[in-house]
Amino acid sequence: MTDGDVELEARLAEQEAFDPPESFTTQANAADPAIYEEFEENWPECWEQAADLIEWFEDYDEVLDESDAPFYEWFVNGKTNASYNCLDRHLNERGDKVALEWIGEPVDEDNRSFTYEELYQEVNEFAAGLREIGVEEDDVVTMYMPMVPELTIALLACARIGAPHSVVFAGFSADALATRMNAASSEHLITCDGYYRRGDPLDHLKKANEGLDGVDHSVETVVVDRLGDDGFGHDLTDAQTGYAELRTAHEGETVEPVHRDAEDMLFLMYTSGTTGQPKGVKHTTGGYLSWAAWTSQNVLDLKPEDTYFCSADIGWITGHSYIVYGPLALGTTTMMYEGTPDYPDKDRLWDIVESYEATQLYTAPTAIRAFMKWGKEHPEKHDLSSLRLLGTVGEPINPRAWKWYYKHIGNEECPIVDTWWQTETGGMMITTLPGIKTMKPGSAGPPLPGVDVRIVNAAGEEVEAGQAGYLTVQKPWPGMLRTLYQNDERFISEYWQEYSDPEEDKWVYFPEDGAKIDTDGYITVLGRVDDVINVSGHRLGTMEIESAIVGVEGVAEAAVVGGNHEIKGEAVYAYVITEDGYEENEELRSRIVAGVNEAIGPIAKPESVVFTPELPKTRSGKIMRRLLENIANKEEIGNTSTLRNPEIVTEIQQKAQNN
Ligand code: WT7
Repeated sequence: MTDGDVELEARLAEQEAFDPPESFTTQANAADPAIYEEFEENWPECWEQAADLIEWFEDYDEVLDESDAPFYEWFVNGKTNASYNCLDRHLNERGDKVALEWIGEPVDEDNRSFTYEELYQEVNEFAAGLREIGVEEDDVVTMYMPMVPELTIALLACARIGAPHSVVFAGFSADALATRMNAASSEHLITCDGYYRRGDPLDHLKKANEGLDGVDHSVETVVVDRLGDDGFGHDLTDAQTGYAELRTAHEGETVEPVHRDAEDMLFLMYTSGTTGQPKGVKHTTGGYLSWAAWTSQNVLDLKPEDTYFCSADIGWITGHSYIVYGPLALGTTTMMYEGTPDYPDKDRLWDIVESYEATQLYTAPTAIRAFMKWGKEHPEKHDLSSLRLLGTVGEPINPRAWKWYYKHIGNEECPIVDTWWQTETGGMMITTLPGIKTMKPGSAGPPLPGVDVRIVNAAGEEVEAGQAGYLTVQKPWPGMLRTLYQNDERFISEYWQEYSDPEEDKWVYFPEDGAKIDTDGYITVLGRVDDVINVSGHRLGTMEIESAIVGVEGVAEAAVVGGNHEIKGEAVYAYVITEDGYEENEELRSRIVAGVNEAIGPIAKPESVVFTPELPKTRSGKIMRRLLENIANKEEIGNTSTLRNPEIVTEIQQKAQNN
């Protein structure tokens, strides 16, 4: 480092607040600070501003219906279509403009651009194909696909004909696919022969087929050919059709976008919760789309002339809201990247940003920590001056990583939006409006205008500034989930139980995060307070992982906790009791890791497996996870006086050390 660098690092390390640069504020979509007050005074009508960003076939006659809270309805009786909003309505003005830039792997060989006109045409043809194979309005269509352009096309084709989609992340296991298809009684699957990872073809259809074996009803499958000659030579069955054949059979056709009610389901997205069974989060057409569009416009500052890059996977909600629906609803050019950030080299993302002149980058703290570790020489090789704004999502970002991102990627010229939200919220909830608010590294910022977040104690009373409490949302918002698929009861018990007062008709949403607030109303999110682990910004339920481990032959009992991890944020730490007659050895350890991989996927694989004769339990028999977390983090062990078996703690500690 030069002296100048050292000086700069020292200054940055001290600085606790950053104002957005004037070059940004003068052109920002949201530039008037009065918006906060206006939205508060004019709630819920303020959200007409979001609804106005999309086109309606029939106007809604009420902004919000609270009569059956917490089953809220937004933009009541409005009719619209998400595919129409993302495609048709842009054709006149910008049909020739690129809608989707797809960057494939291996490098240089296979990048594809789709103009709005081209994307419109392909979506229409595929929508006609889906109808041909029997997909009807309201049928749930599952996608189990990597980051190929056909995934975006498939989402929009389903939206066009009113068939809700349910995307299962391609990195999830065959079992995970089967569980989700069974839970949604989904009779249609769109998948892919394979994809490339670090230059090598990967057999995805094999995994999809294994998943299909576990589905308890018949399924029609469409298979995208991504690998061509690099494919694995699977023959399609009678219930499987090639994507290209199906689409080209409908070449040139158009399909009228179905008029969907604002409250009709646009998609389902399964996410992890406290119990083993994933939750089918239901999002609607009108409210969700308005929310995705409004937050894209005001937080990401998207404009039609932008080329915007979100590095998430469409298998997660971030990709739904901020690769597909938000950017396309606004007529922006959105980018989709198939590969990893370190192949063929650790400057891959910066190479992409430079060549496409990306104007915004939205990524995750786990990625930023990896970039930091790889070193600033990688971004320094590239001209990143096209960037105007940076974003982060998925977990809290530590100030050091924030500052690295600010300096080495944004060149101190781009505001950073640290956006707190969840699968359930549909879109961003807490973050600075980048053209208006000062940024404080480590704190997501104030809630968005019109979003009523309060930090409360166990009794539901607001805590004082600086004190840790529970994050709650005390007013509904258009992008909120409407229920858990076919499980209204669980919807109430998961999200509305703790702090609501049904007698008073007071409904408080609890996202299961801890947080604190400062005297300026800035919120620092402290992390999950339920049994959910956040690995690289992805939610995994400890119960799901434990049941996968207990399913392994030779395992009697297991407990799983999240421990700190330099890059991933949190990693999975497993404590396992073997069955009598089984040895605590490497062979069993690798079968456990493989078992988790098979049941859930590689992201859930334990970082460490510690064998123990017992787990620390309270007198009532509850596992004391807190102590296991202490051990994983090599921290001092907390109070063990309420344990039935306190002596086991030192034993586990020693075993973990020798691991
Ligand atoms: C959980 C939601 C939102 C899309 C990606 C994850 C954590 C998310 C932040 C942030 C601190 C964050 C929370 C939340 N989280 N963003 N900016 N700061 N924590 O979606 O899988 O539904 O996970 O991610 O704990 O509850 P998800």
